[in-house]
Amino acid sequence: MAINSGTADTSPSKIVVLGTGGTIAGRASSAGDNIGYTAGEVGVAQLLESIGAFQNGALALVAEQVAQVDSKDMDFALWQRLAGRCAHWLAQPEVQGIVITHGTDTLEETAYFLQAVLDPAKPIVLTCAMRPATALVPDGPQNLLDAVTVAATAGAHGVVAVCAGNIHGALDVQKVHSYKVDAFSSGDAGLVGVVEEGRVRLYRPWPGAVDSYKENMPLAQVAPAPAAIKNIVLRGADADGYWPRVEIVLNYAGASGLLVDALVAQGVRGIVAAGTGNGTLHVDLQAALLRAMAAGVRVRRSTRSVFGRVLATPADAIPDAHGLSPVKARIALLLELLAEA
Ligand code: SIN
Repeated sequence: MAINSGTADTSPSKIVVLGTGGTIAGRASSAGDNIGYTAGEVGVAQLLESIGAFQNGALALVAEQVAQVDSKDMDFALWQRLAGRCAHWLAQPEVQGIVITHGTDTLEETAYFLQAVLDPAKPIVLTCAMRPATALVPDGPQNLLDAVTVAATAGAHGVVAVCAGNIHGALDVQKVHSYKVDAFSSGDAGLVGVVEEGRVRLYRPWPGAVDSYKENMPLAQVAPAPAAIKNIVLRGADADGYWPRVEIVLNYAGASGLLVDALVAQGVRGIVAAGTGNGTLHVDLQAALLRAMAAGVRVRRSTRSVFGRVLATPADAIPDAHGLSPVKARIALLLELLAEA
């Protein structure tokens, strides 16, 4: 197969498409049903057939089924396998880039994880769909075609997500709608660019390429120490039990310290507090988190607000999450702890 994307580079000559499941691979019993489907049923090779007619022969597409899951069930073992397959393919000189088909529900977490672990010099493009492959008007084929276009674009690198013609950076992308086809936002950072009729139009440089993009981030959040990568990717089958336990607690009216105390009693290693507004916490929750810190638990403060970030003040007793959403702050903390293991 080949690709016709205007700005596509034809050498190296291979795009690897890794399938992990999701609605893009979902099957429903009726074409009119966009919600009563089973995710992760259609194979990635079959998904590629849906865009075969739009390829023109210059670039080979290689399909590999890494998993077939509903991404709500994403877990450490699968992340580890996926990172391992990405590292394997990225090391092949003939591979221009990787596309990953993924469910929308935890796509932002996998994108962030892969960016943090691999910081790839080639593009890794996650794509997805909000409607199953069997829908009357599925969005998956166009998203897949656009993702291949992005992966084939000269100069592209880092982990991005492509959905509804939009290109999002891994650090910023968030699923913000439960149903609409254009379900993702990059918040205040804005889109990396768009895909229009097989051409990429950039609004800002590729993420990962810009030093200022990384400047505000602790090393562990952008490119963790080599020890972390080794631990994650090379540790093998026992890695699942090896991942430090990091949980998220939410602030809300009437929040207490009960959950935090229970987690500490269970041996949790890290806690991310999804605070209200600028990361504020109910006085009882804050007291419990300070007790947890005193007991050696690593705590970070993020915000449950979809837009904006926690702005630190000198009076803060609990460190903030450097602009990461709660789910991404959790992964950063996991990697931080893993790097020290
Ligand atoms: C999933 O995340 O695997 C199911 C939902 C979706 O892909 O939209």
